[in-house]
Amino acid sequence: MVDERRPRKELEKDLGKEPEKYLEVRGLHVHYGNIHALHGVDLVVGKGEIVCVVGVNGAGKSTLMWAIAGVLPITEGAVLLNGAPFVRGAASARPHEIVNLGISLVPERRRLFSALTVRENLIMGSIRRTDREGIAADLERCFSLYPVLRERIAQRAGTLSGGEQQMLAISRALMSRPSILLLDEPSLGLAPLVTDALFDTILKIREEGVTVLLVEQNALQALDIGDRGYVLRTGRIVESASSGELIENPMIREAYLGGS
Ligand SMILES: Nc1ncnc2c1ncn2[C@@H]1O[C@H](COP(=O)(O)OP(=O)(O)O)[C@@H](O)[C@H]1O
Ligand SMILES: [Mg+2]
Repeated sequence: MVDERRPRKELEKDLGKEPEKYLEVRGLHVHYGNIHALHGVDLVVGKGEIVCVVGVNGAGKSTLMWAIAGVLPITEGAVLLNGAPFVRGAASARPHEIVNLGISLVPERRRLFSALTVRENLIMGSIRRTDREGIAADLERCFSLYPVLRERIAQRAGTLSGGEQQMLAISRALMSRPSILLLDEPSLGLAPLVTDALFDTILKIREEGVTVLLVEQNALQALDIGDRGYVLRTGRIVESASSGELIENPMIREAYLGGS
């Protein structure tokens, strides 16, 4: 099989270099009542990058995604797109306005409409659009990315396998035609081989010009497709480097990648 992944050497070239900021999280704090979940998170995502945030269960990965998507109020800090803040305390954009900015979240555990069909779920993803031809073209784009969804088009989402549900969740997000895709633990509950196949499609999505922020407990598989990565531990970024560097870092291997 041909390995379509970006050659590691090409990635190493950019090692240590901060990309031009496209999406930027700056000094982000989030509380749930008395629980301080994010303690001043800083990260940047360059246009066209796949950036991974890895961390164990409870590290704050979903909190970070919900804050960027505007579904969770923040206490302090900001999230910026091209230098313009869209999440900033009380002045934050509403979730649907953030979708209109081109930022789309694939939430943890898919959150599909399980009683609706595959087609209906996809249409829900395009609900804020009026360009019928563009919507039809994007449906085709999803089917060429995930041919099995075409076969299952009239099937209820709840009857799909875990892998197929994740494909549908990603496709539903793509139906809003995002420029940035936020992926919250897409590998959750999937077998390693299914995850591998799914992650290969994330590379394809990036090739089509979509920027990707991927958060995962499954650090090794995520970093394998990522350009750069951040390690989140109890609400703080404790490490950031190229994916190759993180994979080879003995400390990271020990703590997050299941030893050597
Ligand atoms: N709705 C909530 N209410 C209170 N605490 C929460 C809530 N959601 C998450 N937390 C807490 O915030 C921290 C980060 O959680 P989360 O963002 O879900 O982590 P991850 O996605 O990395 O597993 C955890 O300590 C978790 O218990
Ligand atoms: Mg989570």
